Amino acid sequence: MHKLSRQIRFAISPFETTIKGSNSYCAKPATNGLALYFALWVELKGSVNKDTGFVVNVTDIDKIVRNKTVEIFDEFVRDYLAAAANGGLNPRHLGRGLNGGFEQIGQLLSQVWKTIENEFTPAKIDSLAVELMPARKVSIKESGGDMLYFSEKFEFSASHTLWNDKFSDEENERIFGKCANRSGHGHNYIVEVTVKKPAAGEPLKTGDFENIVSSQFIRIVDHKNLNADVEHFKKVNPTVENIAEFAFNSLADKLKPMELDSVTVWENDRTFCCYRQ
Ligand code: NI
Repeated sequence: MHKLSRQIRFAISPFETTIKGSNSYCAKPATNGLALYFALWVELKGSVNKDTGFVVNVTDIDKIVRNKTVEIFDEFVRDYLAAAANGGLNPRHLGRGLNGGFEQIGQLLSQVWKTIENEFTPAKIDSLAVELMPARKVSIKESGGDMLYFSEKFEFSASHTLWNDKFSDEENERIFGKCANRSGHGHNYIVEVTVKKPAAGEPLKTGDFENIVSSQFIRIVDHKNLNADVEHFKKVNPTVENIAEFAFNSLADKLKPMELDSVTVWENDRTFCCYRQ
């Protein structure tokens, strides 16, 4: 089975200046000025068609998703603004509070899922995620969106050496290459932490989440020599795989009532590792 991911980028202007635009790499529709930018990830699972080599043609994904879902986001944004001006109540759906919270964005994704789920047959939707900011996204993995997944990226800088005393100098140099330099070398790491919670539970508050990730992990590794300054890496090689696992274990029981889903660590833009249990 293959999983194909495609990001659809678009902008919604609450100020009525939306233009169509023709550069879908940037955003389509786009605007002539200030707007809300959305990036919707659509992940499809299925087999490859032998004639085309595609799971689904990405041109078709773009067309279907754009035609059927931009208006759902547009309506949500306008309803939310109307509700904000009306004491939190949407005038078109009286009694239904709108606060733009992550749980409501999950409901929005669920609506998107139900709208497009039969459009890619025989491929099926595996997950939908909306990037609210370049470092923050909300996902669902089933049509009802009963579980909400929240991911946020953090950064830290650190130096490390990859070395194992069990190996000879020559073996270390052969296995770890330039990373075996005993004086170390640096990386600007990016860490994405994903938590999950029932969509119907307590509203997700990001302030506590960010403070916990910062105090329980980032603070321990940021601007450190990982081999010398971090107890865990005095005995364990600080590879991107081991850093992801260490981050996961450092955070696993600290984020309650949310549950830690996974941690992904990028060592650079072409090397990253995701750890989950
Ligand atoms: Ni390195």
